[in-house]
Amino acid sequence: MSTPALHLLLLAGSSRKGAWSGRLRDAAERLAEAAGARTRVIDLRALALPLYDGDLEAANGVPDGARKLREAIAAADAVLIVTPEYNGFPTPLVINAFDWLSRLQADAPTPSGLATTAGKPVALLASSPGPLGGLRAMNFLRQYLQMAFAMLVVPQQYALGRASEAFDESGALKEAKAEQAVAGVLNHLLRVGGALRAA
Ligand SMILES: Cc1cc2nc3c(=O)[nH]c(=O)nc-3n(C[C@H](O)[C@H](O)[C@H](O)COP(=O)(O)O)c2cc1C
Repeated sequence: MSTPALHLLLLAGSSRKGAWSGRLRDAAERLAEAAGARTRVIDLRALALPLYDGDLEAANGVPDGARKLREAIAAADAVLIVTPEYNGFPTPLVINAFDWLSRLQADAPTPSGLATTAGKPVALLASSPGPLGGLRAMNFLRQYLQMAFAMLVVPQQYALGRASEAFDESGALKEAKAEQAVAGVLNHLLRVGGALRAA
């Protein structure tokens, strides 16, 4: 009997038209599909999450977008996040989405936002037109997801520098080295996701 394909959720930290992080997410999606994974992309902007505000939460509760994110993470065997870098930090789009997610309480039989992320494998990529490719942001994101969300952030990661020169017209990564690095991160992530699903 063949094993069902692993389910990979892909998120990018920018929804800007033409965003480099979106292009890298799309390139990673194609590589994951070629590796046999079933993929799902969620546009964080489409979740329509306002900037976290305790008064908003007290008045209206947690927005439905956070529930959509929880459902997508729960359904995934593994998650890939591609973050840009704003002043050395992950973008507000990513942090705000996860902050809202952390406010979701358990709603039997659905677990809380934090219980949903706990133990879930995640891998990180970053992209920037600059030379370091968002490395600093990725390291902060690693700490945030590990410490606050108990996610299993795989050690392998990759920061794509000079992202504005990295893609060809079809959206593929021009350099074999970059493509191999992304495929390598995905390979480790999917192995961990597969092992945990089998456990
Ligand atoms: C507020 C802000 C801060 C930024 N800080 C950094 C930075 O610290 N490091 C970096 O490499 N690029 C930085 N940039 C440039 C971004 O890498 C660039 O705008 C990139 O295209 C954003 O990602 P995206 O293409 O996925 O939207 C910054 C951009 C903005 C708007």
